[in-house]
Parts: sequence; structure tokens; C-alpha cells
Amino acid sequence: MTTDHSQLSPALAVGDTEPDRNLALELVRVTEAAAIAAGHWVGNGDKNSADGAAVDAMRSLLSTVNLNGVVVIGEGEKDEAPMLYNGEKVGSGQGAEVDVAVDPVDGTRLTALGYNNALSVLAVAERGTMFDPSAVFYMEKLVTGPAAADMVDLRLPVKQNLHLIAKAEGKKISQLNVAVLERDRHKPLVEEIRAAGARTRFMLDGDVAGAISAAREGTGVDALMGIGGTPEGIVAACAIKALGGVIQGRLWPQGEEETQKALDAGHDLSRVLSTNDLVTSDNCFFVATGVTDGDLLKGVRYAKDRVLTQSIVMRSKSGTIRVVDGEHRNHKWESYARLA
Ligand code: FBP
Repeated sequence: MTTDHSQLSPALAVGDTEPDRNLALELVRVTEAAAIAAGHWVGNGDKNSADGAAVDAMRSLLSTVNLNGVVVIGEGEKDEAPMLYNGEKVGSGQGAEVDVAVDPVDGTRLTALGYNNALSVLAVAERGTMFDPSAVFYMEKLVTGPAAADMVDLRLPVKQNLHLIAKAEGKKISQLNVAVLERDRHKPLVEEIRAAGARTRFMLDGDVAGAISAAREGTGVDALMGIGGTPEGIVAACAIKALGGVIQGRLWPQGEEETQKALDAGHDLSRVLSTNDLVTSDNCFFVATGVTDGDLLKGVRYAKDRVLTQSIVMRSKSGTIRVVDGEHRNHKWESYARLA
């Protein structure tokens, strides 16, 4: 059988014998540009300028990529930061029809304060395949790697999930590290983790990086638990489709208005969403570039005439994961990194 490629969207066409296009290798230019733009603001104390610079660079570079994208997971609404807004059309307008999830800087505060682990992140999947959280900003999350992916369940007590993870990974509970956002709301969770005998790895911000560490083998992080952004959960699901492992989430609406919106949109608030609910496509792409140094990637670094970036590029269909070191000449990046 032969496939008529002219009838298929270019990014998502599947050849019978030949390998098809890996869109992530083009998308990495977008997060590189956003990270370089935000990188200029690292440690300047101004998180909106860092975010704004990353948004502008991301939007501008996205317009060069051959895709017909709609932002379905924008990041700005929560704190009314400058945003690539939900419904915004992105890409050249030619090519594959896709859902786009953006997080120009996951860790705007980390960037502004010069802390580790800020990333610029982008995920793309076939149109209509990303979960619509109907403006519920928070989600309870459980992430772990391939070993325990089919065993854990967000509905189980924390201690039981930790036992299952330890058993699947062939470790003692006391050897498990659990990434948790450092928030007051997590005090009971932290007590439960420690009472079970495991350790916590606090994250000041940036639970996309935390979710990847939890799913990726060899990072020293065995799980992520706790409440974080729903958009970040959907973006992380795109990465986990390539990495293996699982993310489970349960919407955690704030206040009556948000709860009512979620119910009106037909959400069952007790439902545990799994990786495949958060992104139904098996053909999704995830790219991230380090803004500041982190466990996952090096941040933006400046040499005399060049700026250096490090990115991770993943594609779920092939399960390919690449770490890409970029060297950018100053005259190139200065055009999209607005200099103060
Ligand atoms: P931003 O940098 O995009 O604001 O997000 C940082 C972040 O830490 C996310 O990684 C996380 O999902 C979310 O904020 C948690 O929200 P909150 O800071 O309100 O607890």
C-alpha cells in the first residue's frame, strides 16, 4: 500500500517506509529564541519583562515554522502576564493543523531572581487532542517513571503510591526522592511523604522541569506530587508521552466561580486524568530550552560574540529524545532579544 502524502498534513504525514518529519527539530528554534530573550532578564528582578521578551520572541519565531497552529494552552491568564493567548493563531498558516501549548518561561520568578530551573517550553500535538481545562488553573499531580507507571493511582494514599514506586524501582522507600512545589498548601503532603520514609526535593517553581525529572530515568527524582498549574500538566504530558512514565491529574478549582465553570464545561472534578487524557495524540512534540541552569538543562550563557543554549527535543511517536547545544552569533539573536 502507498500513502498519498499530498493529502496529509506535512508535519504529521506517516511514510510507509521512509521516516517522516520531526517537527520538534524546527520548534527548538522557537524555545531557543524565547530563552535567549528571557535570558537577558535573568536576575533583573522583573518577571514581567522576562516573560514579555520570551513571549515576543516565541511568537515571532513561531511564525516561521510551517504549521497551522492554534494556542490552546496559553500561559498568561493566571497572573495577567504578557501572553500568547488561548485561541491565538500561530505558525506560518501552512502545513499541519495542530494544537499548541506554550510556556514561554516556566519559572518567571526563578528567572527574575536568578534561581535555577527556569525553562522555555513548547508542545505541539494534532488539532483537538490537548485537554481543555476550562480555565481551571490548578491540578493535583502525580508523576513517575516507566517502572511504576501502570501501578500508581492518585486516589491511593501517598504512602501506598510510594511503596508501589519503591517496589517497581527496586529501591527502599528511604531512597525515594519526591519533587514537590514549596507551597503552604503542601504541608500535609510533605508530612505524609516524610512519614512514609521518603525524601522531598523542593522546587521553588517550575514543575514542568520537575515532572520531566520524575518521569526520566537516572535523574535521582522518583516522583512528583502536589498541586501545580494545569497548563504545565498538559505540557508535561506531551513530554511524558515521549519519555514513558505517567502523569495523573485531578482538577483543583479555586472558589465557586471556577468550580461552576468547570462543572458547566462538563468536567467531573473527581476524575483522575491520565497522560492519554491530557493529550490524546500519540504524535506530539515537546521542546524546552534552559533559561537558567537546572537539573535538566544548562541555562543561557554568554560568550564574547555568541550566546549558548541547551535544549531538549522529544517526539512521542518515535520516542526520540535529543539534547541540542546551540551556538548563536550575537548579530542574529540581538534581533529578537530586545536589549534594554
Ligand atoms: P510561571 O513561571 O509560568 O508563573 O509558573 C511557575 C509555576 O511554578 C509552575 O511551574 C507551576 O505549575 C505553577 O507556577 C504553580 O502555581 P503557584 O505558583 O500559584 O503555586
